[in-house]
Amino acid sequence: MAGRIPQSFIDEIVARSDIVELIGARVALKKSGREFKACCPFHNEKSPSFWVSPDKQFYHCFGCGAHGTVVGFLMQYEKLGFVDAVADLAQRAGLELPREAQTSQIPGGADLHDVMAQASRFFEQNLADNSRAQKYLAKRGIDAPTAARFALGYATDSWNALLNRFGLEEEDRRRLLQGGLIIERDARGTERQTSFYDRFRDRLIFPIRDSRGRVIAFGGRILDQGEPKYLNSPETPLFHKGRELYGLYEARQARTDFKRLMIVEGYMDVVRLHQAGITYAVATLGTATTQEHLHKVFRMTSELVFCFDGDRAGRQAAWRALENALSLARDGRELKFLFLPEGHDPDTLVAEEGPAAFEARLTSALPLSEYLIQHLLLEVDLTHVDGRAKLAALARPLFARLPEGVYRELLVDRLAGQIRMSAPKLQSLLLAATPPKDSAAATPLGSKPQVKHARMSAGRGNMLTQAISLVLHYPAAAHAVTHREQLKLLNKAGVAVLDEMLEAALGDAASTAALLERWRDRPEYDRLAQLAMAQPLVTNPQLASYELQMAVEKLLEEYGPGQRMNELLRKSEEMGLNSDEKTELSTLLQYKGRLRLPL
Ligand code: UTP
Ligand code: MN
Repeated sequence: MAGRIPQSFIDEIVARSDIVELIGARVALKKSGREFKACCPFHNEKSPSFWVSPDKQFYHCFGCGAHGTVVGFLMQYEKLGFVDAVADLAQRAGLELPREAQTSQIPGGADLHDVMAQASRFFEQNLADNSRAQKYLAKRGIDAPTAARFALGYATDSWNALLNRFGLEEEDRRRLLQGGLIIERDARGTERQTSFYDRFRDRLIFPIRDSRGRVIAFGGRILDQGEPKYLNSPETPLFHKGRELYGLYEARQARTDFKRLMIVEGYMDVVRLHQAGITYAVATLGTATTQEHLHKVFRMTSELVFCFDGDRAGRQAAWRALENALSLARDGRELKFLFLPEGHDPDTLVAEEGPAAFEARLTSALPLSEYLIQHLLLEVDLTHVDGRAKLAALARPLFARLPEGVYRELLVDRLAGQIRMSAPKLQSLLLAATPPKDSAAATPLGSKPQVKHARMSAGRGNMLTQAISLVLHYPAAAHAVTHREQLKLLNKAGVAVLDEMLEAALGDAASTAALLERWRDRPEYDRLAQLAMAQPLVTNPQLASYELQMAVEKLLEEYGPGQRMNELLRKSEEMGLNSDEKTELSTLLQYKGRLRLPL
């Protein structure tokens, strides 16, 4: 996603924004030394553990671990997507968003957006003109303000109403086709000018909007009986089913505090719940919940409730949702499952019992851990000898998907308690078949962030981490680094990160925040953010330059050709070298002459 906006533009945005001003406009900040503090806006607390650093242009909460740059703050606080957050900052700074970011780099994207917007208005007008469709809405209990809020519409009972309105020119028809609004008639068809027809006919129309409120697709429900009950836009350049959540834009508009989001199954459920004031409801579009959906959700809130019908199909869908959600389950996130009574969906239930009773059900929603364990226990007979083995076998692939960490350990403990087995024993049963993860020590930049200990330990790990931490805290220190060429040649994991960071710091990424933004979508981001939050190793910029150069030299000594050369020289004195080693040494000596290696 970040790729659509040039890096230089993000550098510029970060450089022109002031995080203290941005956050200060929303949260009461108090000066404390060089930094500012407040009660964290992202979790409930009485004494302040939320810090904003004007030097680093970075915020961090020691209570809940929230952290980020100006871009991250807008995303987290205003529930904006990345592009929207950048667009917002650009507007404040009086900069124009690059064209490719505006149209999401879709060829003809702007045109397509126009056509979808026109069609949406056309459908809305049709609804205003059609009493049968209005009656249907009324019968479903949807009032006019809600219909307007969701821009509900109606596609008339015609094969070409839309086509005749917007598709007179060849070029227009091409756009309607690309937007999925018309369908090409089978080539064997008859007259030439009727080779297309409207996709949506005699249906109630639900426009699907992206995070910026632009219509990107439609869902259409038949008014009477008939198949299919719902018809959706096909995949188009603007619309990817597995990515969008119906009602998310409207939820954001409702300015709920987003304590949570709730995923329900249908369009009607979302509309009806919003009408009842439950504005945190969203729906997938007739598909299972994907990882992309979940990532989207967890960028906005830390609590997600899946709401399913109590029937068999609902339970199946719930289990599939659980399987997809496992890899995102972690400490600090709440994932819950709410099962409705058989024969009900949220639409009918909220109509019957009202929003308060409906919301009261949330308190009895099953946490993911609970649901997982209950489900597993249903599958096995623990009174039987091999019940436990079977349980372990069933649980193993599920646990393997959970990220390593506190959450997984707690879950193992819980399951162990349930089946009266010691946690370590269960742990070894469960993890026996999973391949070991790369050891964290070998790749410090891929390892898990441990926010709680950040102040104490980050940056002291090893020379490479120290060097990276120094650049991150003092980008200007990059100017002090010599031997860049040799550094590039080092055969050590993570050196590429240091090198790229030095390059960026020497370029336009002149602050901690700008550097972090360059890693936003990369696996190293969490670890780098953790380093940025930690107390810097030194507090004096001059000292930082010196320390950074020292760290780089030590890296070269430790991992560079110098070390191998010393080894060979020592060996040649002690026992002599074979011919391969002699060649190697002479190459190294030449190399040393050329690059003036620190030895
Ligand atoms: P449901 O069949 O549960 O419908 O489909 P619903 O939401 O309760 O609709 P009403 O109350 O009868 O109007 C749930 C979702 O599955 C997708 C749609 O996204 C729908 O909202 N679906 C369903 C389809 O895509 N096609 C269909 O034919 C049926
Ligand atoms: Mn329904």
